[in-house]
Amino acid sequence: MDLKLKIWRQANANSKGELKDYNISDVSEDSSFLEMMDQLNEELIEKGDEPVAFDHDCREGICGMCSMHINGEPHGPENETTTCQLHMRKFKDGDTIYVEPWRARAFPVMKDLVVNRDAMDRVIQAGGFVSVNTSGNTLDANAIPVPKANADEAFNAATCIGCGACVAACPNASAMLFVSAKVSQLALLPQGQVEAKDRVLNMVNQMDLEGFGNCSNVGACAEECPKGISLENIARMNREYLSASISSEK
Ligand code: SF4
Ligand code: FES
Repeated sequence: MDLKLKIWRQANANSKGELKDYNISDVSEDSSFLEMMDQLNEELIEKGDEPVAFDHDCREGICGMCSMHINGEPHGPENETTTCQLHMRKFKDGDTIYVEPWRARAFPVMKDLVVNRDAMDRVIQAGGFVSVNTSGNTLDANAIPVPKANADEAFNAATCIGCGACVAACPNASAMLFVSAKVSQLALLPQGQVEAKDRVLNMVNQMDLEGFGNCSNVGACAEECPKGISLENIARMNREYLSASISSEK
């Protein structure tokens, strides 16, 4: 396949970026989108040009690093698929492909397609964990029975890979789907109950401090989420938040 690429190039966080044109030939339809970007970078390096900076790690749809806006969609055109799992056969010979970084105030561009997603880490640090007694008397997690329906829902929420596509897809740059998946994953389990109230209050508070927008029920987050995280998690987080707010006022 021969393709035209329009790729966002930005030297650093303070410089003004712009879309630059590249032509690439002989792209295998069996290569992944990232392998196509590798091919482009090898050609740029051979010519003495600066390669395009982009994030990636596992290339297996697990780590959530491959954050690219492809033709206006986070992770590109295929449903429930990360950029690293997207194949070039989804495009046609002669296509023009736009490649841009996530766009959100809380995700400043660091270089080219790389954005800083520390804000999501700080939301997790605010409460996305269960404190465990490691004194030697730790209770085996399997000793506490969990209803099957709750275990399944908790597992589904836990498949969120923290990629930030939900934020990038949302016109308000809201992180509600991500935060609600992390809240739900623990709220559904007995082990998560002890810290449940502080967790949801602190995580939502941190989400607001980081500059993510508010949810206005557009639903683009769930539409573009590569892991199929459901809007039901947002409804659950809102219930958890309301109940925690009321009891903290008593
Ligand atoms: S909810 Fe989906 S889109 Fe948002 S961070 Fe998690 S996996 Fe990515
Ligand atoms: S590189 Fe890990 S999810 Fe894409």
